Amino acid sequence: MRIGVIGTGRIGTFHANTLSRHRDVGSLILTDADPARALELAQRLGETAAPGADEIFRWGVDAMVITTTTSAHAELIGRAARSGLPVFCEKPIALDLPGTLHALAEVEAAGTVLQMGFQRRFDVGYTGAREAVRSGRLGRLHTVRATTSDRTPPPAEYLPLSGGLFRDTLIHDFDIARWVTGREVVEVYATGSDAGPPMFRAAGDVDTGAALLTLDDGTLVTATAARLNGAGYDVRMELAGERDQIVVGLDDRTPIASTEPTGPPAAPRPWTGFLERFGPAYEAELAAFVEVVRGERANPCDGREALQALRIAEACERSRRERRPVRLAEIAGGAEAVFR
Ligand SMILES: NC(=O)c1ccc[n+]([C@@H]2O[C@H](COP(=O)([O-])OP(=O)(O)OC[C@H]3O[C@@H](n4cnc5c(N)ncnc54)[C@H](O)[C@@H]3O)[C@@H](O)[C@H]2O)c1
Repeated sequence: MRIGVIGTGRIGTFHANTLSRHRDVGSLILTDADPARALELAQRLGETAAPGADEIFRWGVDAMVITTTTSAHAELIGRAARSGLPVFCEKPIALDLPGTLHALAEVEAAGTVLQMGFQRRFDVGYTGAREAVRSGRLGRLHTVRATTSDRTPPPAEYLPLSGGLFRDTLIHDFDIARWVTGREVVEVYATGSDAGPPMFRAAGDVDTGAALLTLDDGTLVTATAARLNGAGYDVRMELAGERDQIVVGLDDRTPIASTEPTGPPAAPRPWTGFLERFGPAYEAELAAFVEVVRGERANPCDGREALQALRIAEACERSRRERRPVRLAEIAGGAEAVFR
């Protein structure tokens, strides 16, 4: 099969590498708004570069992978759907609900597939946590603590286009909290701090954020994120129930040091970033996409999942700005039609 990849930045380069090695992928056509970037990668992988997305659509592919800056996702999803192509797209679909709903309507009208890049659903630790919740091993879940911290911040120019910490980073925690617990968020209360590097303030964003989510069964979830966490890239989730307690992301590379005399020592090689920490999960989600394109499996993460995660992020942004709890029902924006 031939796959088009639009956007060859950080994650697009990783995905193109993965696809190029996949035994069922015959060839790739790569493009980027910076054509030299796509050309350099294509040459390195022995694949083809196209001057722009127009050429990829014209030359013809069997599926499209969209890994551009978020602001370009929705339009490209719509275009691929109208061309009848299955699409894998990085999260989020768009930075706002109208753009997200429009893209979903295009996919629905075309009857095509849109698989979203929430790779934590393919991570061994999160999969184990979901199984533990489902099996009843934890008993009634009372508290979930989720955290995502980057070791170093993204480039300053990424921030104004990212949608902010809640839509860009915590959206992963919101998605995985729903997936692991199997519950929906009904209310959020969120806050943030911009006391770190001035580029966050300049972008109207925060460098540290915290959200308290209430699930529909009364379970409380805290989700925190930081853009600058010197110890390393730290992604964890603790799930505490009446019978047992488990943690995702605690291993010999977790960037945290115990102050207890008998506690585990600091990790000698802490995780440095998302590509390293989630490499196998990124590969697994794309292997799944290839199977979806071949009609061998159902879509493991469709656009409605991304819509729901975005609604939570939107509720958090509103909560942070208005300094009040926000019910998810406030963030409908036509979303009910998609969930009918
Ligand atoms: N799933 C994850 O863990 C994960 C991790 C990082 C990024 N992402 C998502 O992936 C996307 C890309 O992030 P990134 O970190 O790779 O950013 P990046 O800035 O490194 O790369 C984005 C690339 O897209 C190109 N681009 C922008 N608009 C384009 C257009 N219209 N057509 C063609 N190319 C275009 C840019 O030139 C750039 O090379 C974002 O939506 C981000 O949210 C997901």
